[in-house]
Amino acid sequence: MSLTRKTSAKRPRRTSPPAGAVAAVVLDPASSAPLHRQVYEAVRGAIVAGRLRSGSKLPSTRALAAHLSLSRNTVLGAYAQLLSEGYLRGRIGSGTYVADAPPERVLLARPSSEPQPAPSLDGASLSRRGALVAGAASPFLRATAPRGPSGWAFQVGVPAFDAFPAAAWGRLMSRRWDRSWQALLTRCEPQGYAPLRRAITDYLVTARGVRCTPDEVIVVSGAQQAISLAAEVLLDPGDPVWVEDPGYTAARSALIAAGATPVPVPVDREGLDVATAVRRSRSARLAVVTPAHQFPLGVTMSLERRRALLDWARSSSGWVFEDDYDSEFRYAGRPLAALQGLSPGARVIYAGTFSKVLSPSLRLGYLVVPEGLVDAFVAAKALADVSSPSLEQAVLADFMIEGHFARHVRRMRVLYERRQAALVAAAERELSGLIEVGPAPAGMHLLGWLPTGRADGAAAERAAASGVRCVALSELRARSAGRGALLLGYAALPEDEISEGVRRLKAALRQR
Ligand SMILES: Cc1ncc(COP(=O)(O)O)c(C=O)c1O
Repeated sequence: MSLTRKTSAKRPRRTSPPAGAVAAVVLDPASSAPLHRQVYEAVRGAIVAGRLRSGSKLPSTRALAAHLSLSRNTVLGAYAQLLSEGYLRGRIGSGTYVADAPPERVLLARPSSEPQPAPSLDGASLSRRGALVAGAASPFLRATAPRGPSGWAFQVGVPAFDAFPAAAWGRLMSRRWDRSWQALLTRCEPQGYAPLRRAITDYLVTARGVRCTPDEVIVVSGAQQAISLAAEVLLDPGDPVWVEDPGYTAARSALIAAGATPVPVPVDREGLDVATAVRRSRSARLAVVTPAHQFPLGVTMSLERRRALLDWARSSSGWVFEDDYDSEFRYAGRPLAALQGLSPGARVIYAGTFSKVLSPSLRLGYLVVPEGLVDAFVAAKALADVSSPSLEQAVLADFMIEGHFARHVRRMRVLYERRQAALVAAAERELSGLIEVGPAPAGMHLLGWLPTGRADGAAAERAAASGVRCVALSELRARSAGRGALLLGYAALPEDEISEGVRRLKAALRQR
């Protein structure tokens, strides 16, 4: 295959192409698409166009990586994805060939998923499913990477660790331990600790307008597990799933790992574009959405779109997965209640998390599912990890029942609003002409829009080199294109660190 790259200052092109190569597939160093995606697109394009015929042998990942001067993981990720989607057959490491008949559905529904470097594939003979999981892992791991308490400005999606109610939490923890440590060591309820399920129900009914009883609530280890369980219970391999584009890559990764086919759907001012979704894949089984505060654009899904989504689910026997991940943090206007509560019997799987209000390391979240699905979801939860930890569940139940939770949310709303204002003010002072950062009525991050034509991936890399860790909007895109932007998380940062982060960002953005 003569996969060639345009001349790049960083990675000079090698001259000897590996044997049996595809002609003239060009990787563009100026492209903002990740390299693994470019390799994937290049090979897939050659297959679809017939330049690479069924049965042709592909070069080894090592040879192709050497030829392109790329890391082998980059090529491994691309191959793993092509294998998982049926374009290739064989096993990585022992001969990879163009499949005899790439499934037509795959060719029509252009995959949204990014192939990703898969370090653990090295030399191994993974199953197709294993390759799928490993290939989906990188965006997931990036999205869920451990984040230090400070020192890195603008991490996205992390709460104010400096304002964690440590004293109250510690008190409740030792009280629980003292009173009932034996029960805590033995209890193991897959559906979740009953008093916690009652407390979550009270909160969701009053604060989010969710229709539920404690029997329909399942405690899970975060929204991430919620989506994996939903995929397991509701989807068959290959089933199309609407996902927001741009959207939360960790959800997409979970769907890919479960064998589903994400179908990216554009998001506009009203949220997911339901009409386009229906046009792209009428037969979708699930729609994964963030209606309260779309991640990452921050729009709230309009009432009309909510109705359209519920109508689609009803008429097609599909399901809506409502990821209500940060609805607590709205600073202006009244929040729209959850989609789940809009009409009785709505075909909605509702998920929420304590990662944003308290800490992502607690690994506690919840699902609300219709009564008829409870047993299946609880079975899936039990098989995944038996149950969420008893001590943390019990402490959280006390924390909610005794009013600490509501108080903490109120305090964080005030704090985050202040931190957001500090970021906007610092950006106005320091970043004019480099990036546009405006206020937002909700959430924990702002979008900083770069001048038209400036690639956000490169800007994010420069920022990272200056100790500023922000996500490029293009990283969260599947098919959509548009102006580059950086996501700037502000919730975790004290105001002086916001100013320092903005100064570093300024220095990074001034480099061309
Ligand atoms: C859109 C979205 N959904 C869900 C989550 C939360 O995931 P978890 O509850 O698994 O920590 C996040 C966290 O970053 C998110 O951004």
